[in-house]
Amino acid sequence: MKHRKSVKDYIRTIVDFPHEGIMFRDVTTLFADPRGFRMCIDELLHPYAGEEIDKVVGLEARGFIIGGAIAHQLSVGFTPIRKKGKLPGATLSQAYALEYGEAVMEVHDDAIQPGEKVLVVDDLLATGGTAAAGIQLIEKLGGEIIGCAFIIDLPDLGGRAKLEEMGMDVHILCEFEGD
Ligand code: PRP
Ligand code: MG
Repeated sequence: MKHRKSVKDYIRTIVDFPHEGIMFRDVTTLFADPRGFRMCIDELLHPYAGEEIDKVVGLEARGFIIGGAIAHQLSVGFTPIRKKGKLPGATLSQAYALEYGEAVMEVHDDAIQPGEKVLVVDDLLATGGTAAAGIQLIEKLGGEIIGCAFIIDLPDLGGRAKLEEMGMDVHILCEFEGD
């Protein structure tokens, strides 16, 4: 039987980017392929079939690409959570730790209504810092998070455990170990 490629098979690894010792998991090759991209969106949504979702929230930057496609598929609205200084309206901010120092994520303060059921999406879960900041922002606005969906997990970095400790339902399509 012909081998059918999985989502993981479409992800390219770039060695030593952005610096030496890092294996960069590049989803542009997944997004560029018509079957790969469709499979990725379908599989991200699969556990939520039949569930009520009012809004999709995507985390900058690759979370916008999948979040837009998912929101369109569900016929719901899309809200971006962006890095500091990019959103023009009034925002809420949340700091999170980076390898060196910290960064800040922001959301428009009127982008989610209290009680709205939200699906959070991003391409990759590493330490979970980015996603945790996004979750905190959504919860501050009163959103109810139905699930957090990612294409890639780097299990050695502990992000999944961190989000599950926050009470999140986490859905991830594939893992790369040893990163
Ligand atoms: C990457 C990735 C996730 C985040 C995961 O984004 O796309 O958003 O890191 O890391 P964490 O779980 O340790 O927080 P990055 O911050 O490189 O920025 P970009 O998506 O804007 O390129
Ligand atoms: Mg990102």
